[in-house]
Amino acid sequence: MPYSPSTGRVLLVGAGPGPADLMTVRAMRAVQGAQALLYDALVSDEVVALAPPGCVRIQTGKRAGRASMAQETINRLMLRLARRGLTVVRLKGGDPSIFGRVGEEADYLRDRGVETEVVPGVTAACAAAAQFDIPLTHRGVARRVLFATARTEGGRLVDVDWSALADGQTTLALYMGRGAAGQLAGQLIADGLAADTPAAAIENAGAPSARRVQARLDGLAEALGAMDAQGPVLILIGEVAARAGDAGAITPVPLARRS
Ligand SMILES: C[S@@+](CC[C@H](N)C(=O)[O-])C[C@H]1O[C@@H](n2cnc3c(N)ncnc32)[C@H](O)[C@@H]1O
Repeated sequence: MPYSPSTGRVLLVGAGPGPADLMTVRAMRAVQGAQALLYDALVSDEVVALAPPGCVRIQTGKRAGRASMAQETINRLMLRLARRGLTVVRLKGGDPSIFGRVGEEADYLRDRGVETEVVPGVTAACAAAAQFDIPLTHRGVARRVLFATARTEGGRLVDVDWSALADGQTTLALYMGRGAAGQLAGQLIADGLAADTPAAAIENAGAPSARRVQARLDGLAEALGAMDAQGPVLILIGEVAARAGDAGAITPVPLARRS
């Protein structure tokens, strides 16, 4: 269907890592002006509460034991609401362009004539880094930062040629990596990254409840086990992780001296 002025539009909005004061002003205004709000599990109640009375609120992610909605269902729902002439806000944790399927959703809507706009957000890696005084890049120490995820199938890492990432001057920001962290650490070490490369895992980055553990790369899986996180966890691997401040530290695992 071609877009017409009577058709609504869809804003694909990053809610940031949780607290409303880590949203952009543009994102906040989008939520305050929403007529329909479709939000993911990682979007906080505080942010959802910014939607005006009368706004249709639909939770699309896994929360309180409920299953997540299939992507195709979400796409069709956004389309239907926009075709009713509503301003639809599709709200995602962090930044919608980082492991947020924003490209898929925008393509789906634009192919069907619906106007879309993307509003960026503070991604978990930036929130974690800021909260614990970890610069993601640091002159002479970390020249690159890489946003990545790690998935295993049958106990083996899939998707990425990790050998290219075993680089002492790269900060690796690992999303959804808790389960695969041990495998990944072993692979990076096998590919040449020092076993004592610093790593930090941050739970609930950005929130007052944030917690962090610090470990060497070869002790990352153990540290994550001891952390026993209940919330989302972001892992930073690289020399800059050794600079983490003390706030929110739990079960500290001392970093060994570099030889
Ligand atoms: C599907 S990805 C979405 C990432 C999101 N678009 C972003 O930019 O932060 C979900 C993963 O992001 C990470 N994550 C999201 N919010 C987080 C937070 N507040 N603290 C720590 N990690 C977080 C976790 O690794 C979680 O499993």
